[in-house]
Amino acid sequence: MRVQVGIVGAGPAGLLLARLLGLRGIECAVLELRSRAHCESRVRAGVLEQGTVDTLDDVGVSRRLHAEGQRHEGIELRFGGGRHRIAFESLVPGRAITVYGQQEVVKDLNAAVLAQGTPIHFGVTDVQPHAIDTDHPYLTFDGQRLDCDFIAGCDGSHGICRPSIPDGSLDYFVRDYPFAWLGVLAAVAPSARELIYSQHDNGFALHSMRSSTVSRFYLQVARDADRSQWPDTRIWEELARRLETVPGFTLRAGPIISTDLTPMRSLVAEPMRHGRLFLAGDAAHIVPPTGAKGLNLAVADVRLLADAIADWYAGDPTGVDTYSRRCLRRVWRAQHFSWWLTTLLHTFDTDDSYARRLRTAHLDYVVSSTAAATTLAENYVGLPLPTR
Ligand code: APR
Ligand code: PHB
Repeated sequence: MRVQVGIVGAGPAGLLLARLLGLRGIECAVLELRSRAHCESRVRAGVLEQGTVDTLDDVGVSRRLHAEGQRHEGIELRFGGGRHRIAFESLVPGRAITVYGQQEVVKDLNAAVLAQGTPIHFGVTDVQPHAIDTDHPYLTFDGQRLDCDFIAGCDGSHGICRPSIPDGSLDYFVRDYPFAWLGVLAAVAPSARELIYSQHDNGFALHSMRSSTVSRFYLQVARDADRSQWPDTRIWEELARRLETVPGFTLRAGPIISTDLTPMRSLVAEPMRHGRLFLAGDAAHIVPPTGAKGLNLAVADVRLLADAIADWYAGDPTGVDTYSRRCLRRVWRAQHFSWWLTTLLHTFDTDDSYARRLRTAHLDYVVSSTAAATTLAENYVGLPLPTR
């Protein structure tokens, strides 16, 4: 078998790359470890930046997103018994976020990629990149061989592509946080129209949603927490304690559909290329979910990668050679933003009274200075996407 680009991983990064390349007439194939049903039901973050929505519009994969997703022109910060809206419509006019589950994006992309005739091989177990230092790389999987010009490693943080790069070729930059997020999907109407980020002495809580009947919540919990320590009654008690901090707000409780635990971690592997293997999305970098940047960064990476590969076939290798450097600029902006928001909103075991006062002063500044609120808003809705 031979294609121009072999893509490993059918998450948002791999699928969008397949779509972008398909539209440019570049032949590819996608190899995915898990089943299609599994990929389409994984619950993860659900905040799309303006540039991500624009990209999905450009590639014709946004009909359901506009029909079922919710455009939000602000978020609320809650701390110290007060509520404060960060109003995108006045701070960053014309830019907003869309709340639409990651697995819905994956469903829409799967359908479009398969409809354009790009094969997605689901459930392949032993994918391995080879000869990435040569002009003739190839992938093997389940006893088969796929020759290609480029390999795109879009296989997430536990994938095989990054580990297949020779030892010592990558620099790692890592920060682990001493807590995790317990994610909760519940069959109950949202208790507010917009997202609420709440800073509380017991720990951070987030109110989000998926539809008019499904809410999504997150609670800061211990890094080694397990679900048995968090029976449903404790989850609702703690969500209420951390979110019902302002007059007139009552949290609606309901049946819990599912829960998940996300360790909070920041990681960047540099450079995002080794020979003919290009890393994109979570395969190259991870952010804590506080700023909801993971999916959006993956989109920014693969836009650059698709352009770079198309230019290469047109005889211009510049984009391929500068891919990593151009991606990493945005990656580090998002690293800083996610770290900043995480630090601002979470409770740390090491907090003393001085640290708590500093955090309150910082939060107070963010909600009372237009300059500071604009910094939050423009990063949250996403800085303009890079172009070639
Ligand atoms: N072989 C083939 N596929 C693999 C392998 C492997 N060895 N290892 C992992 N995969 C697949 C996973 O099953 C998954 O479907 O690669 C895919 C990676 O997808 P994501 O983890 O979603 O990563 P990415 O596409 O970079 O997404 C970026 O979007 O999904 C959200 O929040 C998520 O931050 C993430 C962001
Ligand atoms: C979500 O709805 O899943 C979500 C929202 C905001 C975040 C993270 C996750 O910062």
